[in-house]
Amino acid sequence: MLPFTQIQGLNSAWQWYKNGISIPVLRNKIHPYYGTYFPTRFEHLILFDNWLKHYKGSKKTAIDVGVGCGVLSLQMIQHGFQKVFATDTNPNAIVGLAKHMGTTKLSRKIELSHADLFGNYTKQTELIVFNPPWLPKTHELNGIDDAIYYSDTLFEDFFTQAKTRLAPGGKLVLIFSNLAQITNATTAHPIEYELAHGNRFQLEKKYTKSVKPASSKTKRDQHWRSLENVELWIMTRPEDTALHNQNN
Ligand SMILES: C[S@@+](CC[C@H](N)C(=O)[O-])C[C@H]1O[C@@H](n2cnc3c(N)ncnc32)[C@H](O)[C@@H]1O
Repeated sequence: MLPFTQIQGLNSAWQWYKNGISIPVLRNKIHPYYGTYFPTRFEHLILFDNWLKHYKGSKKTAIDVGVGCGVLSLQMIQHGFQKVFATDTNPNAIVGLAKHMGTTKLSRKIELSHADLFGNYTKQTELIVFNPPWLPKTHELNGIDDAIYYSDTLFEDFFTQAKTRLAPGGKLVLIFSNLAQITNATTAHPIEYELAHGNRFQLEKKYTKSVKPASSKTKRDQHWRSLENVELWIMTRPEDTALHNQNN
């Protein structure tokens, strides 16, 4: 016996999986498994795509933490990255993407791992990307909640591990939003906090873009939508600047 709302949820998930979802920055549709996060607004993906267009560094490898439906990994492959290592703690995300790629060329370019943060990927890489949850946790997390709410330790653990994985000259790219601030969930901003107190990374550039409301039909409680901005944070290792200054 399942409640009707869950049946509706299962049906929607099945339709999305079967028919696929078009994402403006991708050539092909994605087919997310039940319980897998996929974007319904695209401003942050457009910011990332524009940044990738002008990216001049090496494109040998990248790491995508929290791959979800795979959109960021697919964007990197479209922009010429040879290999992306991708993790997610949600098994449905990993199984769904693995099944979607099958044995195609893509499956050799995106290596998936059902794991926390960087999993077993210990080698250094020139690009690390993470679109983390945007809201602080207020209740016990399960399933797809992990895509939306972050625990107290997520960002500290992420930045600690990212520090050892980012190759010299590499870029650490985070996608975030002012959603928590404008909905009064918290005044804290984990990326600003890291830059001010972490001593691990420095800001190269921050891009922002305002977000259009998801749908004109869902006006209820959405007055803050007009204030929403997405953010693309590009960070580097402080050692790189020190070296650059020394050489000039
Ligand atoms: C906001 S979604 C982003 C998904 C996808 N990268 C995108 O941009 O559409 C965050 C993803 O990170 C995953 N996640 C959350 N905490 C994680 C962790 N500690 N390690 C790995 N993945 C995590 C979630 O399951 C979810 O798929």
